[in-house]
Amino acid sequence: MSLLGRDLAMDLGTASTRIYVKRKGIVLDEPSAVRRDSNTGKVIGFGTEAADGADDTEAETCWPVNGGLPADNEMARRMIRHFLRKVHRHPFSRPRIVMALPEDATPIAQMALRDMAFEADARGILLFPHALAAALGAGLPVRDCVGSMVIDIGYDSTRIAVVSRGAVVAAGTVLGGGRGVNRAIARWVENEYGLVLDDGEAEAAKRGAGQPPYEEVVVKGHDPDTGERRWVALPAQGIREAGGQQVESIARAAVETVESCPAELAADLSGQGAVLIGGGSLLRGLGRRLRAALSMPVRRAERPTEAVALGLGRCAEELGLISKLRRR
Ligand SMILES: Nc1ncnc2c1ncn2[C@@H]1O[C@H](COP(=O)(O)OP(=O)(O)OP(=O)(O)O)[C@@H](O)[C@H]1O
Ligand SMILES: [Mg+2]
Repeated sequence: MSLLGRDLAMDLGTASTRIYVKRKGIVLDEPSAVRRDSNTGKVIGFGTEAADGADDTEAETCWPVNGGLPADNEMARRMIRHFLRKVHRHPFSRPRIVMALPEDATPIAQMALRDMAFEADARGILLFPHALAAALGAGLPVRDCVGSMVIDIGYDSTRIAVVSRGAVVAAGTVLGGGRGVNRAIARWVENEYGLVLDDGEAEAAKRGAGQPPYEEVVVKGHDPDTGERRWVALPAQGIREAGGQQVESIARAAVETVESCPAELAADLSGQGAVLIGGGSLLRGLGRRLRAALSMPVRRAERPTEAVALGLGRCAEELGLISKLRRR
C-alpha cells in the first residue's frame, strides 16, 4: 500500500453498497441503510446493523441512496464514511475511490457525488460509466468491436446497455426493478386475499417463490378490517405471475434497445446474447422470458449482485483502463 492509501472501488447501490479493495477483492457488501433514533434523530447504526433492526419501534431506518446517487446527502456521507473506515483502517492515509456514474446523472448530481465522497474522507474520486463497469464486471469483452449487452436489474430501476469498443452504443432504462416486482406482488395479495404486505413480506414471497419446491410460500400480512396480522399461504405460481408485468416492461425495453443499435451490432448481439446482473436477475423465470422476447441467448453473470463492484474494481486495479476507455 502506498503512503497515500489504498485504491478502492465502491458500487453505491440503492439497496446495497459493495466495496472492492485493490488486490483483495470485494470486502464489504451491506445494505445502504442508516438507523436513527426516532426521538432524538441520532444515528445509531449503519449497513447490516441498520437494516436488521427494522422491528424496533423506537428507531427508524433510512435509505439515503437512490439510483447510484445520494438522495439524502448528509446520511449518505455518514454511511459512506462509516463503510470506508471499516475497510480502510489507516489513520494517516485516505483512499482513492472509483465509483460508478449513472448514465442519466446531471452535472450537478455528478458534482454532489464527488463532494460527498470527498467529505466522506476520500483522497481522490474517479467516476466511471455505470454501464461499462457492469459490462466489465460481467466479464464481457468491453473493448472489442463486437457488441455486448448487459442488463442490470436493481432495486428501483433496470439499466440496459449495449457496449462496443469501450463505449456505450445504446442504452435504455426502465423505472422499476426488484421493488416494482414486490409492489406488484403486494397489489395482487391485497386484491386476492384482502391482506396488506409490507415490502419485507413481499420480498420474502418473491424469493420464496423462486426456491424449491416452488409450490407455496407462507407470509404474514396485515388485515385492514380487523387490524390483525395473519398468515397466508400463497401459490408460488401466482406470485410469479403477479411480477409478470414488471418483467414484461423490462423485456420491452430490452427489445427497443436492441432495435436502436446499428444493424451490424444487432447481428453480433443475436450470437453473443445478453448478460443479466443485479439482484433482480435472480428472479425465477426472468431469463426465460427475456430469451423469448429477444430471440437471443440470455445468461446470468457468475456473480450477478457483485458485477458492478467487480467492474469498478478492475478499474481500481488498472487505473489506466479508465482513460483508455474514456478516450474512445
Ligand atoms: N433471490 C432473489 N430473487 C429475486 N430478487 C432478488 C433476489 N435477491 C435480491 N433480489 C432483488 O434484488 C434487488 C436489489 O438488487 P441490487 O442489489 O442489484 O440493487 P442495488 O445495486 O442496491 O440497487 P440499484 O443498482 O438499483 O441502485 C432487490 O429489489 C431484491 O428484491
Ligand atoms: Mg446496482
